[in-house]
Parts: sequence; C-alpha cells; structure tokens
Amino acid sequence: MNEDRRIVDTDEVTAEDTVVFTARSGFETTEGLLTRLGDGTVVAYTNYCPHWRDVRLDKGPGATVRDEELVCGKHGASFEKATGHCDFGPCEGAVLDTFEVTVAEGGVYLTDEEWESADPGLSEERDLSSGSRIDF
Ligand code: FES
Repeated sequence: MNEDRRIVDTDEVTAEDTVVFTARSGFETTEGLLTRLGDGTVVAYTNYCPHWRDVRLDKGPGATVRDEELVCGKHGASFEKATGHCDFGPCEGAVLDTFEVTVAEGGVYLTDEEWESADPGLSEERDLSSGSRIDF
C-alpha cells in the first residue's frame, strides 16, 4: 500500500465516532470523515452537510453519531452511516458523497483514484466561502 494514502490506524476508527481527514490531489484538497458500521466495515464520506455545504459534519473532535446515523450539529439533519442517505432534516433525500477506502496492513487507506494522498485532520486550505446552500 502507498503510505501517502494511509489515513489512520484501523483501530482509531470506531462505530461511535468519526475521524476527519484531508484528501489531496495536486493543489486541490477536500475533507472526508471515516466511521465504522455495525458489521465492522469502514466507510468514508465527504465532511460537509448537503444543506449548507460550508458546514462541517465533523469539526475536528468527531461528528455526532446516534443510532447508526451521523447528525449535523447545525440543524439536525441525520444521515444513515451505511449509505450516507439523509432521512431527516432540511436536506432530506440528499446523499453524502463517498470516498473509496481500503483496510489493509493495520491501516485505513484512501484508495479513491480521484485523490492522490490523505492525512488525518482538518484541511487548513479549505475554502468555506464558496459552498452552496439549500434554502429551507
Ligand atoms: S447545515 Fe446541516 S442540517 Fe443545516
């Protein structure tokens, strides 16, 4: 596995929490979050709310996870962890974008071809000014 793509050790990703990461490709960056499903599978979604795309689901210490769902702290939208589907809230019906990740050699790797590397933590370059908002 390419070590530039290693995000965190596998055991750092739990079902009760999320781990934020920054993906890079050239000069482009974006943020994602990792979480674990009940069956142990590790999944990754983009770290913004489809309602207001400048709002992070995980602001650094972990997103709110309740009953197998990720909950946006701004207006309470909830997303099924297994699918990213929003089943409650102002963006009901929206779906979080996914990243392809692979668990191997004790780590979680970003194997999504769209991105070249990944690091744990928030992006310092993230531009929050250009996000679109879905009105109520
Ligand atoms: S910004 Fe997430 S529900 Fe409104």
